[in-house]
Amino acid sequence: MAHGLLVSDHPLLNDLYLFNLKAYVDLGLTAKSSLDEALQIIDLEAHGDIIITLSQVAGRDAAQEIVDKLEKKGKDTIVVVIGERSQVSQTGKVVTLPANLNVAALIKKCAEVLGVTAKDMVTKEVPDFYPFPISLLETFEKVPCDIFIKTSRNAGQADFVQILGKDEGLGDKVSEYREKGIPNLYIPSELRLKIVNQTSQVVMKRLDDPNLADEERIKVTEQGYDVVAGLLGESEAVTPEVLDISKRCIESVENVISKVPRAKSLLMQMLENKTGYLYLHSVMGTYVARHIVKEISWGADEHAEKLSFVFFFHDMFLAPVLNRHPELQFEEDLVFQDSLGEKEKEIVINHARLAAEMVKTFPRCPMGADAIILQHHGTNNGMGFTLDYKDDISPLAKVMIISEAFVEDLMRFKNEAREPDLEEIILNLKKRFTKHTYKKIINCLETISF
Ligand SMILES: [Fe+2]
Ligand SMILES: [Fe+2]
Repeated sequence: MAHGLLVSDHPLLNDLYLFNLKAYVDLGLTAKSSLDEALQIIDLEAHGDIIITLSQVAGRDAAQEIVDKLEKKGKDTIVVVIGERSQVSQTGKVVTLPANLNVAALIKKCAEVLGVTAKDMVTKEVPDFYPFPISLLETFEKVPCDIFIKTSRNAGQADFVQILGKDEGLGDKVSEYREKGIPNLYIPSELRLKIVNQTSQVVMKRLDDPNLADEERIKVTEQGYDVVAGLLGESEAVTPEVLDISKRCIESVENVISKVPRAKSLLMQMLENKTGYLYLHSVMGTYVARHIVKEISWGADEHAEKLSFVFFFHDMFLAPVLNRHPELQFEEDLVFQDSLGEKEKEIVINHARLAAEMVKTFPRCPMGADAIILQHHGTNNGMGFTLDYKDDISPLAKVMIISEAFVEDLMRFKNEAREPDLEEIILNLKKRFTKHTYKKIINCLETISF
């Protein structure tokens, strides 16, 4: 096995490089995030056969300093520089690679430099990949199967790079990806149902824990949401397991909502947890809708319960689409996205109808819940999105539409890094929803704790 030194202050990159260079080129790397420590190792001539460094480390020209040090020691160790921000990048003194996350290029270059032939390289069969929510991976203590990350795209084709091997300890590694804003990792497609099934038991048990702290509850409930989406994605049949987890999740959402004093703090908590968009807007929507039925003259407790139920399921069928395109948010914009394939657009257009049909098969589905879900984008047949909000849909569907619009506006403020303004949101909603019945619902928002 060859040895080398990796100099980089980017922990996630280090994991990625260490893992893959070991797996594919049999190169063992010592990683140093401090340039001074790395220079010390070179001083001791313990840096091995190759040095890989980011062009800059903590604002210093790492590549230049390393090359200088090697020259002083009279060493001709090969230096691979990732990035162009060093004085020695693109000079004959080093091998320069682009700064993007192209692990395949790094593997190829290292193999070449070390004289490792393709035949020597561990040949691994490359599976088909399926996006898998990080929230679900976090339920495991040991990695259930090989885990991959999607890296650079070449001509529309994504590269997948393995970051963890089966049975490795999970530690904080996966959560670190979530912290970086990466919502999904990838698993071999053929394993997805098996792995979703494995998580469901753990999630159910945790949902039952009465001592769960609020923040944990938000997280575990998202895991439940993702399990249900995963199970329904495999087969639309409502199994006892789906029933069980979803019931507990809905209760759990109610529990979270009852403890959060303000809409904004709920949003902040969820944003801080880096929850997925669908789950976030379902929980926020439930919060807002439950406030509306508390205020409106005809509101009753049973409406609140029904709304919790419909909000949990209304966008379930969008989950696989948004898992594949985690950068997307607002539902109505989805149909116009070029990155979505025809099949995905079809799901977007039909997602209300699909969810309505699914909940209809629920034993003890709250009365009329399917109709509310069917109409949640303002159309009567659950297909497409209306721009002209009419009176011919159920009153609770209107509550739902206004609640979702409110949450979207709130998110837009956050996306633009503006402090949300309740008055402005209400004014916007009144411009968009001109019918009297909708305005009455919007008026209820004036008293929301914000
Ligand atoms: Fe929807
Ligand atoms: Fe929605």
